[in-house]
Amino acid sequence: MAVRDTSDLPDANIESEAKYTGLAMATEKTFYLETFGCQMNAHDSEKVIGTLQQQGYRQVESEGEAGLILYNTCSIRDKAEQKVFNRLNDYKKLHKSGKRFGVLGCVAQQEGEKIFERAPYVSLVSGSASYRKLPEMLVRLEAGESRITGLDDRQTDETFETEFTARQNPYRGYITIIEGCDKFCSYCVVPYTRGKERSRGSSSVLAEARRIVDQGYTEIQLLGQNVNSYRDPEGKSSFAELLAAVGQVHGIRRVRFTTSHPRDFTRDIVEVIDAIPTLCDHIHLPVQSGSNRVLKMMAREYTREWYLERIGWMKAARRQISLSTDIIVGFPGESEDDFISTMDLLAEVQYDCVFGFKYSARPNTPALTMIDSIPDSEKAKRLQVLLDRQREIQRINYSKQIGEIIEVMVEGLNPAREQIAGRSSQNKPVNFSSPVLIAPAPGSYAKVKITAAFPNSLVGEAI
Ligand code: SAH
Ligand code: SF4
Ligand code: F3S
Repeated sequence: MAVRDTSDLPDANIESEAKYTGLAMATEKTFYLETFGCQMNAHDSEKVIGTLQQQGYRQVESEGEAGLILYNTCSIRDKAEQKVFNRLNDYKKLHKSGKRFGVLGCVAQQEGEKIFERAPYVSLVSGSASYRKLPEMLVRLEAGESRITGLDDRQTDETFETEFTARQNPYRGYITIIEGCDKFCSYCVVPYTRGKERSRGSSSVLAEARRIVDQGYTEIQLLGQNVNSYRDPEGKSSFAELLAAVGQVHGIRRVRFTTSHPRDFTRDIVEVIDAIPTLCDHIHLPVQSGSNRVLKMMAREYTREWYLERIGWMKAARRQISLSTDIIVGFPGESEDDFISTMDLLAEVQYDCVFGFKYSARPNTPALTMIDSIPDSEKAKRLQVLLDRQREIQRINYSKQIGEIIEVMVEGLNPAREQIAGRSSQNKPVNFSSPVLIAPAPGSYAKVKITAAFPNSLVGEAI
């Protein structure tokens, strides 16, 4: 139980003070929320926290202190899903002391009411497409109901907009511009866990961008499973136009966006990055595989050549745009030659960052019917070969920046190296020392001269 500060209680003898505290403990609504998964989930949690606070709940730092324990879950790979059930299992004994459990997010939507079977002490199961009904679900929870579900069946057209976002990130303001996904890549759970694709009106996005600046943020990240599939329901802006408009909001210094899909990636996105300096010179464009045969089995709806044409636009830009990607190794039927095609693509593109994953068979997905033919040891080997090769590419790429002076946004301290940790506009981590003794606040900017480079970060000195 948490130690409570009772100094604000009225003067009284110890006995009545204890009673008063007991009353407050009984009526105070507290919650603990842990988030797994992607930035969409991180931002959903900011909205969930704001909604709970609006309903009179106070956020606490541990399961032990909380009356309501919530996990906002991820189901993208089997390991992510297992983490959630392990966590529920670790804390299930708390149920006996009257604590309630809720499972939110992608595992909630995917498993639905089956969660009540696997973890009977869970009272609330809600997917992200139902969060707008959270206040109502909380009222039912407080009334003692024990099996409350908010599950979407891919029908909803609504987005979750709330004025009560409790922003947790001290230097980056997230804005969701598009929810759900209609792409149905053969390996992926997202179309089943996040509902159908639906965009938010551009006026509402711009109004939120202005509000974020008023709150003191200078960096905004636009979010969506496929941001560039954005279709303005007001019919005013294409994705590139929206990006440009957000970049020109007074007070904004950095705009990022994730994730782009190669199928819908248009040239005007590169053109606005070239034209508007606040748009960060970084594009994350997941390729998944360098082999046309595998891309077809993945149902990615583009070829290697189509992808490389778009990379060509980025490389031809006036600004030097940093590129990153996601790759899956060991997709069912991926041959040694297919894998070599992916390795060749790495050499050709020269990314600054690659997120590599071993294929993981997922519920509901079409790839589940394909034979998961590559043994885990072979997947692990391919992943290692890929990451080793990419490390060498990055070692060379990053070292080219030694001697440059770049602008870094401060994110915090790097205690291991006793340096200030930040990020360049190109999204590269930069650790730097400063002659000023007081560490600058997260979200402030410094000009840094780069003095050394590692494969995953730059090192420098503030000037
Ligand atoms: N919407 C984004 C990616 C979302 S998921 C896109 O289309 O690119 C993030 C990454 O997880 C994916 O890019 C993919 O590389 C990886 N991923 C998704 N499903 C996976 C699976 N079943 N096994 C392994 N990796 C997977
Ligand atoms: Fe998943 Fe494909 Fe949608 Fe990305 S585009 S979220 S990989 S189905
Ligand atoms: Fe995971 Fe759901 Fe995001 S599956 S990656 S939390 S969209």
